[in-house]
Amino acid sequence: MQIEHSEFQDQLVRGLAHRMNNILTLFHGYVGLLLDNKNLDRGTVDGLGRIQDGAKAACHLIDRAHAIVRPTNVVWREVQLGDFVRMLRPTFDSLRGPNTRLVIDVAEGLPPVWADATRVKSAVFEIVRNALDATFATAGNITIDLRPEVPPPSFPAEPASWVAVRVTDDGPGIPADIRNRIFQPFFSTKRKPAATGLGLTVTAGIVSQHRGLLRYESQPGHTVFELLLPCRPEQA
Ligand SMILES: Nc1ncnc2c1ncn2[C@@H]1O[C@H](COP(=O)(O)OP(=O)(O)O)[C@@H](O)[C@H]1O
Ligand SMILES: [Mg+2]
Repeated sequence: MQIEHSEFQDQLVRGLAHRMNNILTLFHGYVGLLLDNKNLDRGTVDGLGRIQDGAKAACHLIDRAHAIVRPTNVVWREVQLGDFVRMLRPTFDSLRGPNTRLVIDVAEGLPPVWADATRVKSAVFEIVRNALDATFATAGNITIDLRPEVPPPSFPAEPASWVAVRVTDDGPGIPADIRNRIFQPFFSTKRKPAATGLGLTVTAGIVSQHRGLLRYESQPGHTVFELLLPCRPEQA
């Protein structure tokens, strides 16, 4: 899955995100000031609280949309993905269904990938979050597997070393009739407010920025999303 970027679209999203953030900051500030008034009746306080929640949700949405565009402030460095995934474990556990089992398996001596740490962490997080959602209501199993792996011959495999992050869940799978839409921005089959339908769009964007590969396969009871990320190119 590769995403095409155009400079025009990137500028548009960056510009919109910047202006919307300014507006929402004002919004947030003024509602906060109103809420400081201790003489408000309960209905007004509740209403203002809802407006504040709406502004927060809008900020979250803008942050994610911003993550899709080509970044202007990328910090490339060697990133140990195993450390990241282990660090995220408490967050995964807080989102895990009570009967879901999560196993993290990191291959011994895994090389670091050459990446922007914050972005690559978001990409992994989104994939795992989808697996957690898919198994939330069942006694599900999720495995996060990290190991060295080279891309298929059809992919321009420079450099020589790559790392695969493979997330497997035994949830219901992705129905065939929506498979061509799951990477579209705002496409979601979930009803909860936190589901923006941007998770896979953001992930595909980040993987493209890293010149990596994102692939998946899905059938009922077995869904695998795999991110292949390159290690540092050999120094000449
Ligand atoms: N592991 C998975 N199992 C089942 N469906 C999935 C899985 N991952 C993604 N999907 C489907 O792809 C859609 C888009 O995912 P995403 O872009 O992350 O948005 P969101 O999670 O906000 O719905 C989901 O709504 C869901 O229908
Ligand atoms: Mg998601």
